[in-house]
Amino acid sequence: MQLSSVVASQLLLLLQFCIDTLRFIFASVFSKVCYGTISSAAPVDRKVDQGQDQNATTPTSVNYHFTRKCNYKCGFCFHTAKTSFVLPLDEAKKGLKLLKESGMEKINFSGGEPFLHEKGDFLGKLVQYCKQDLQLPSVSIVSNGSMIKEKWFQKYGDDLDILAISCDSFDEPTNQLIGRAQGKKSHVDNLHKIRSWCQQYKVAFKINSVINTFNVDEDMTENILQLNPVRWKVFQCLLIDGENAGEEALREAERFVISEQLFQEFLERHSSVPCLVPESNEKMRNSYLILDEYMRFLDCREGRKDPSKSILDVGVREAICFSGFDEKMFLKRGGKYVWSKADMKLEW
Ligand SMILES: C[S@@+](CC[C@H](N)C(=O)[O-])C[C@H]1O[C@@H](n2cnc3c(N)ncnc32)[C@H](O)[C@@H]1O
Ligand code: SF4
Repeated sequence: MQLSSVVASQLLLLLQFCIDTLRFIFASVFSKVCYGTISSAAPVDRKVDQGQDQNATTPTSVNYHFTRKCNYKCGFCFHTAKTSFVLPLDEAKKGLKLLKESGMEKINFSGGEPFLHEKGDFLGKLVQYCKQDLQLPSVSIVSNGSMIKEKWFQKYGDDLDILAISCDSFDEPTNQLIGRAQGKKSHVDNLHKIRSWCQQYKVAFKINSVINTFNVDEDMTENILQLNPVRWKVFQCLLIDGENAGEEALREAERFVISEQLFQEFLERHSSVPCLVPESNEKMRNSYLILDEYMRFLDCREGRKDPSKSILDVGVREAICFSGFDEKMFLKRGGKYVWSKADMKLEW
């Protein structure tokens, strides 16, 4: 009799332990689904509980593509002119403030071509606001460079940490073939002009290149070493359904795509360039927090850009659940680096 009551109480204890374990597993899986960096939840309307954000993604580094309009026609472009919408300045500032309150340290303005809207004044005002009012450690821009005037540097240069200019080739006919051009103007001459303005106005200079069918055999070593950027980002041309691939797309980039092996060969050819930062398709796809022109996060996990709700409507914490952002990959690709110009040891 005594023996059977001991066995029964031990069985009860075991049962309780199993229930607690299951409850714990269920709770942690649920919290990852809504707040984790590798969420697999579908974009449905769901209110976020105020008290449960320990695993929430922090928007440390954000890329705001505030316009989709562009004056170039790069055949591989994965952020195309599907709308001409740009938020009013005050709304954009409101969203940037929300991001800062959620932990943003770096903002990168992109597009489309960010210097196109209001001839760069809209961009300049956002740069100024982010540095002077929000006091962000890092404010940067990525641009094709064709619309930048010296006056812009005089007015806004102090508040800009990094300017990245995209250049995929140092051979003008290749730039023409790619579509990285407007009329007959030399993209490369312009790149050199901007490089010297960056030096003069104390802005860190960076270069982005997309490696594709047309430039994969090029050796850019000498040109890059001469321009001496703080970082040279080398991207493997990426396909995004609805942008540069598939029926709804404004571009057909399949003919630009190169294999992993050809990309590796390009990297090996340039292994003597110390500032080279490679980004394969795998590294690039989900490792950026992308905000579109409506301030919606874009989730690229399904190979297309699925939008969340706007942070202006539901706040950052709810919208970011549907960003598809892979924070581990962000760190693996070197997404966090010395990004304030005040901390860079540059010879101006
Ligand atoms: C969409 S652009 C917008 C900013 C600006 N218009 C420019 O070209 O620099 C942002 C960056 O994405 C790169 N990019 C565009 N299409 C790409 C693709 N299919 N694969 C990889 N990078 C791409 C551009 O070269 C540029 O460095
Ligand atoms: S990649 Fe080319 S087409 Fe696309 S936004 Fe930049 S400059 Fe314009």
